[in-house]
Amino acid sequence: MKVLIATQKPFSAAAVAGIKDILSSNGHAVAVLEKYPEQSDLIAAVADADALIIRSDKVTAEVIEAAKNLKIVVRAGAGFDNVDLAAATAHGIIVMNTPGQNSNAVAELALAMMIFMARTQFTPATGSEVMGKRLGVQAYGNVGRLVGQKAKAMGMDIIALDPFLTDEQIVAGGAKPVHSVEELYSNSDYLSIHIPALPATIKSIGYDLITKMPKGAVLVNTARKEVIDEDGLMKALEERPDLRYVTDVMPDNYEALKEKFGLRVFATPKKMGAQTAEANMNAGLAAARQICDYFATGNTRFQVNK
Ligand code: 3PG
Repeated sequence: MKVLIATQKPFSAAAVAGIKDILSSNGHAVAVLEKYPEQSDLIAAVADADALIIRSDKVTAEVIEAAKNLKIVVRAGAGFDNVDLAAATAHGIIVMNTPGQNSNAVAELALAMMIFMARTQFTPATGSEVMGKRLGVQAYGNVGRLVGQKAKAMGMDIIALDPFLTDEQIVAGGAKPVHSVEELYSNSDYLSIHIPALPATIKSIGYDLITKMPKGAVLVNTARKEVIDEDGLMKALEERPDLRYVTDVMPDNYEALKEKFGLRVFATPKKMGAQTAEANMNAGLAAARQICDYFATGNTRFQVNK
């Protein structure tokens, strides 16, 4: 089978070598498309691919349509909002992710961002410490749980909201459960967002929730920019000069936010949460193994479009 690794934001060279090694030793041919400037490059490259490994690359209906031999797409990572699942399903294409493989990298970045804001973006201005502050974690899955556990080790008090977990599971993961977003936001000095971008979550965090946060609170977004209502965020920051926002996913209105609020906001220029050597290796190799396993045994354990 021909496997295309299509990554606008490439894996490390070592991870690519490891992916190629797994695929070729299982009898598959490998092609690599990295840093491609246009979506049309991806559309051209998928024409003869049987399998596709991607990151945040956009697998639209047009890509699916152009990929006449495609049988499986593996998103090396957690979020699969970049894949048109309906189009894939309509063409009988399996879509998988590699849950958990890059979680530690994202969790470490969330903590780094908290401290970066606590220390006024590493300027000499007097900052504060995270010890003794309360951290709210919105969604206590693979990333959220790691953020909670690591923050607890720094002396923070952890509360978490996750409608898919029982209170017992949240407690076992080291946090105190809360049962509504209002309760979560009202009680969090730091709030770390780990919800996926879904129709129900898109723009779900806006003025009403953000202004519920206690005085001096920091909102940390290493999830997806789409979950924030950017107009609501702007209004909340205007009305509440004590609030701050830090994000790994640059908002569309970042220039305006930066101009108005200076050190109270920060966004990475390009999403970097999962961009570590370890996460590249873990997610990339897992994707390669899942493809080999699917072709060899039909294993669809990580399929997300069942
Ligand atoms: C994910 O959903 O796994 C993360 O957002 C990482 O995305 P990336 O592979 O594009 O860095």
